[in-house]
Amino acid sequence: MTPLDDIVDQNGEYTSNDTLVKLYNLRDQRPKQTLMERIHSGEFMKIQAPMVRFSRLPFRLLCSLWGCDITYTPMIMAYEFNRSSSCRDSDFTTNQYDQPMVVQFGAKSAEELVSAAEKVAKHCQGVDLNCGCPQGWVMREGYGAKLLSNPELIMDMTKQLNNRIGNLPCSIKIRIQPDLQKTVELVKRAEHCGISWITVHGRTHNQRSSHPVNYNAIKLVKESTTLPVFANGDVFTLQQANEIRERTGVNGVMAARGLLMNPAMYSGNDQPPLEVIKDFINLYAQFGSLSPVIFHRHLMYMLYNYLNRNEKSEFNQLQTVVSIVDYLNDKFLF
Ligand SMILES: Cc1cc2nc3c(=O)[nH]c(=O)nc-3n(C[C@H](O)[C@H](O)[C@H](O)COP(=O)(O)O)c2cc1C
Repeated sequence: MTPLDDIVDQNGEYTSNDTLVKLYNLRDQRPKQTLMERIHSGEFMKIQAPMVRFSRLPFRLLCSLWGCDITYTPMIMAYEFNRSSSCRDSDFTTNQYDQPMVVQFGAKSAEELVSAAEKVAKHCQGVDLNCGCPQGWVMREGYGAKLLSNPELIMDMTKQLNNRIGNLPCSIKIRIQPDLQKTVELVKRAEHCGISWITVHGRTHNQRSSHPVNYNAIKLVKESTTLPVFANGDVFTLQQANEIRERTGVNGVMAARGLLMNPAMYSGNDQPPLEVIKDFINLYAQFGSLSPVIFHRHLMYMLYNYLNRNEKSEFNQLQTVVSIVDYLNDKFLF
C-alpha cells in the first residue's frame, strides 16, 4: 500500500477526511534530518510526555499534527512485552505517520530492556527508560524512580542497549532527587553510557503534581552535562515553554497534563480549537488503538472549557462512541 492509499478514494481524489490529508502533508513536510541531527542543530524540541493509558497512537498523531516534535508511547513493561505477543499487540500500535516517536519501557535489567527494544527498533526513533515513575507498585518491584537509587544498574542497561542497538537513540526520563548532587552525578555518568538525551521532571518521587517544579534543579542538570536535556513539569502554554527555555537553557520541554487539556498548546493556542476535537475523532475512527473509555476521557479533558457544568455531566454519562460523536456533532455542528 502506498502512503496515499488510505486517504484517496478509488478515483484518486482526496477523501473528505481533512485530518488524514493533514497527516499526509505533515509526513511530506517532515524535516529531512534525523532526530539527533535536529536536537543537536539547536532546534528547540516540543515533546509530548509518556502517559500510561493516554499517549496511544491517535493521541500521538493528534499532538504531532498540532505542533509536537517528539511523541512518547505510554510506559510499556518490558518483561510483559517480551513474554506475550498479545501484550505486544495491545500495548504497541504505530504507523508510518507516527514519528518521531519514542517507546518508553519500564525495565530493571539490561536483558529485559534490550530484548524489548530490539522488538520495536525498526518502528520508532528512540527508546526511553522510565526512571521516574513514583507509583507504589512500580517502585516496590524495582522499576521507575526506584532505579535512581541504583545508578550502576541504569548505566549497565543503557550501555548494553547502546552496544546491541547502537543506531537507536536511547534516553532516560528521571525525577530530581532530594540530594541534587546525586542527580548531578547520575547525569555526568550518563554521558559515558551511550545515552542520547535526558528528560528531567523537576520534582522528587514523593512530590505530587501540585508541588512547584524546581526549574533551578533542571538548570543545574543542564549545566552539569554535555547531553541534551529536556525539562518536564507544569508546561501548560507555549509561552511557559519558552520561559522555561530562557530560564534553564534546556534543549526542549516535555508536557503531559498541558497536552491532555490542550493538544494544540505547542501551536500557540491557549484553548484547543474545535478542529482539534474533530481531528481526534477522525484519528480514532481511522486508527482505533484506544479503548472507548479512554477516547471518552480524552474528550472530557479537551472539552473542559467548552461545556458548562450541566453539559459536562450529560457528556460524562454517555456510554457509547456513537452517542459521544452524535452529541458533539449536534453541539458543534461538525
Ligand atoms: C495520566 C498520566 C500518565 C502518566 N504516565 C507516565 C508514563 O507512562 N511514563 C512516565 O515516565 N511518566 C508518566 N506520567 C508522568 C508525566 O510523563 C510527567 O512526567 C508528569 O505528569 C509531569 O508533567 P506535567 O506537569 O506536564 O503533567 C504520567 C502522567 C499522567 C498525568
